[in-house]
Amino acid sequence: MEEEVLGKAYDGRLMRRLVRYLRRYRGAVFVSLLFLFAQSLAQVAGPLLTKLAIDRYLAKPDHPVTSPIDRWLASDTWAGLVQISALYLAALLVGFLCEFVQTYLMQRTGQLAMFDLRRELMEHLQRLDLAYYDRHPVGRLITRVTTDVDALNELWASGLVTILGDVLMLSFIVLTMLQLSPGMTALMLAVMPLVVLVTARFRSYVQQSYRRIRVAVARINAYLQEHVNGMAVLQLFNREERSRADFDRINRDHMEAFKDAIQAYGWFYPVVEFLGMLALALLLAYGSFRIRAGAISLGVLIAFFQYGLRFFRPIQDLSEKYNILQSAMAASERVFRLLDTSPSIASPADARPFPEGPLAIEFEHVWFAYKDEDWVLRDVSFRINPGETIAVVGHTGAGKTTLASLLLRFYDIQRGSIRVGGIAIRELALDDLRRHFGVVLQDPYLFTGTVDSNIRLGTQWIEEEAVEQAAGQVNLLEFVRELPEGFAQPVRERGNGFSTGQKQLISFARALAHNPRFLILDEATSSVDTETEFRVREALARLVEGRTSLIIAHRLSTIQRADRIFVMHKGKLRESGTHQELLALRGIYWTLYQLQYKDQEIANARTIHGSSELPDRKILVPGLSQQSPAGTMDLRDR
Ligand SMILES: Nc1ncnc2c1ncn2[C@@H]1O[C@H](COP(=O)(O)OP(=O)(O)O)[C@@H](O)[C@H]1O
Ligand SMILES: [Mg+2]
Repeated sequence: MEEEVLGKAYDGRLMRRLVRYLRRYRGAVFVSLLFLFAQSLAQVAGPLLTKLAIDRYLAKPDHPVTSPIDRWLASDTWAGLVQISALYLAALLVGFLCEFVQTYLMQRTGQLAMFDLRRELMEHLQRLDLAYYDRHPVGRLITRVTTDVDALNELWASGLVTILGDVLMLSFIVLTMLQLSPGMTALMLAVMPLVVLVTARFRSYVQQSYRRIRVAVARINAYLQEHVNGMAVLQLFNREERSRADFDRINRDHMEAFKDAIQAYGWFYPVVEFLGMLALALLLAYGSFRIRAGAISLGVLIAFFQYGLRFFRPIQDLSEKYNILQSAMAASERVFRLLDTSPSIASPADARPFPEGPLAIEFEHVWFAYKDEDWVLRDVSFRINPGETIAVVGHTGAGKTTLASLLLRFYDIQRGSIRVGGIAIRELALDDLRRHFGVVLQDPYLFTGTVDSNIRLGTQWIEEEAVEQAAGQVNLLEFVRELPEGFAQPVRERGNGFSTGQKQLISFARALAHNPRFLILDEATSSVDTETEFRVREALARLVEGRTSLIIAHRLSTIQRADRIFVMHKGKLRESGTHQELLALRGIYWTLYQLQYKDQEIANARTIHGSSELPDRKILVPGLSQQSPAGTMDLRDR
């Protein structure tokens, strides 16, 4: 699993590339860093002021006047202490303000930079060709845009800046301590190797259990997704008990992994705390001895105590920061790999303008394989004349849908050429090519929104009347009128709540409203009932009028109306001609017709016959299709 790989906590190449996202906001970053610097300085001031107060006014009133601040301070004890307290307060306020400005600016910048990155990712995903999506699971790609980008945001917001702030503060503290007493500084630093050792040990321990936690979480997600989706089957077969036991096992792994992490944390913080206190105890002993010897003042010892308390916390936090850095590096590696995948299908740099006038579609010796040399289309050649309606029939897997995908350039062919109006589609801009095609697929796809927004699909120029007209032409209007909110009826994710047939009709209206020059229907009426199909048939006649159409069909009615029929068989175009011509050939089409269409023809005849005798066809038709399942049978399944 890609999510498992964790590498270095710092990678210069990745970091340089990440920093590029901050470039647009460098002003804010610069100001933020200035304030960070000031904040670290302000934090060092407190103990120094304490030292001054003790040495100058409390312990040794005869303190020699050395620094400028000494000269500035009042000689009177009370007045001096008030002055120092005021300075202390000022340092606190400055620290507070600096922290606020710094945090605000940096967090905001991080969010802005990640906003840019997310947008870049989305744009990139939209440009990638379908072959990429064939190879990469959707869940993985979503993780790139959400979780991985969050890991990077964490890097800006609490990773890098805090580390820099901690390092600055520690350096200032060490410098100040060295000024005050090199001997005591050395003593305090002596504990450091121990702290570093403990931290490193802790880190590797926690990391292992975090890795196990991540695996467990991924398993829980996968398990839940599958079993919630399949809830109906689960309940139907009374598998709840079994499923619960399976889930318990995965859930327990997760808990055990967490328990280990908690144990590590439970040990780590007290141990570091203890080491810190140990350093302070040593400081107390050694410092008192030095004071006795007159080498340092009482103020210095107290200042050291205060610094000591601030010293170990950032070191403790460093292990946390290390984790953040490491996840961010791994995440950026994955994100950049995605961004570096260039789409294998793109518009040519010098795209030719889309031709005008009546256009023919030509396939010339087209060979195509989704992968390697598994040919799905073999040497397919045909010409669809302007305004012609072509029906494509053939068994499941014959390559019918592939024909449509290639025409829309979702995949590139390996050999031969595909031309529209005499121009190879490779030489046209992608959006220009696809704009002219109206497509209805077998699995209709609706987006969250309304019925209206699904018909328009964001196209601004479509008038309200055009939407209604398109709906009317595919006999969707009646259905929409029955909806409580009509065209404004909300559509949920993937169009849940609409039947497949209804979704197909909406897709029909969508294709029509965009007034395309070419029409591709891929088994587009496979899920509408016989009655609706009967009515769509009339619409279809209007739809194909004046348009060059490629209709992948399994209904005899559609097929018979076509100007010509192409019979695809195992990736080859085996027969083409009119219904009568093909029947006369006594070839593949004839066999298909014998097997499937005859019953359907009879059923259709009875439907029409019935409608003339009985006023209410609605009742009759479902009954008929039940008696004669072949009437709605799908060619693909035979
Ligand atoms: N995205 C894909 N990746 C790999 N193979 C595919 C893909 N789509 C279809 N195929 C294969 O290509 C062949 C033709 O498929 P298709 O054109 O969808 O057939 P039809 O629409 O005639 O049922 C089938 O063998 C199918 O398994
Ligand atoms: Mg198909």
